[in-house]
Amino acid sequence: MSGERLRVEVMHGVNLDQLGKRDPLLYGTLTLSELERRIAEHARELGLAPSFFHSNHEGEFVEHLHSLRGQVDALVLNPGSWTHYAWSIRDALEIAAVPALEIHLSDVQNREPWRRVSVIAELCFATISGRGPDGYRDALERVSEELRRNPGAVAENER
Ligand code: DQA
Repeated sequence: MSGERLRVEVMHGVNLDQLGKRDPLLYGTLTLSELERRIAEHARELGLAPSFFHSNHEGEFVEHLHSLRGQVDALVLNPGSWTHYAWSIRDALEIAAVPALEIHLSDVQNREPWRRVSVIAELCFATISGRGPDGYRDALERVSEELRRNPGAVAENER
């Protein structure tokens, strides 16, 4: 794998395609495609190869997670409100068996109590929330640190 860019999949869940129309105080003003362009730039600066997926359909999100097993080196995921209750996504993430980082634009720990619950946190090596779009840059940095620190996680992938 030396010389190859590490592949990072960035997944956005339900309602994240509505960025730009949602409360800017919580979610910022970027649309999803503007956010993805920024993420792609940060990823390239860090020598990572990014890919993106969004769905408003839980089953599609689950099936996409299944398809990632052995196909990417890391995953940055923001499942939106599914984070708080969608056990199917938790199980699919376990099946994907890819090092994962959970991210939220807003500060989920300091909003309504139901947003403090995350069904995926236990499967993720880190959680970033409340940093808005900049959180994605931090997330990519954490991912590249994690993959350097724990190269076994990459080797386990069926490249
Ligand atoms: C979110 C936080 C969730 O609670 C919410 O349902 C979202 C977006 C975030 O990025 O802040 O849709 O995941």
